[in-house]
Amino acid sequence: MSDSTSTPAPSITIRKNGPLLITGDITLTDHEGNIIEPPKRPFALCRCGSSDNKPYCDGAHNRVGFCATAAEVLSE
Ligand code: FES
Repeated sequence: MSDSTSTPAPSITIRKNGPLLITGDITLTDHEGNIIEPPKRPFALCRCGSSDNKPYCDGAHNRVGFCATAAEVLSE
């Protein structure tokens, strides 16, 4: 049974020409399996490669004009 205080189901949303928005009860780990606690929830993971705060998005995708691949754009 769920109530209004329960954590939402895990979800990853691809933002248009932006990051991956992560919501819900999900565990983030590094390449060695160590758990990383995000600074806030929900959180956004960089998809453009330009963030100075990887793995998190810092908004740099706007500055560099990140554009998703053609296949991703066509499916929107
Ligand atoms: S997606 Fe936002 S800084 Fe890379």
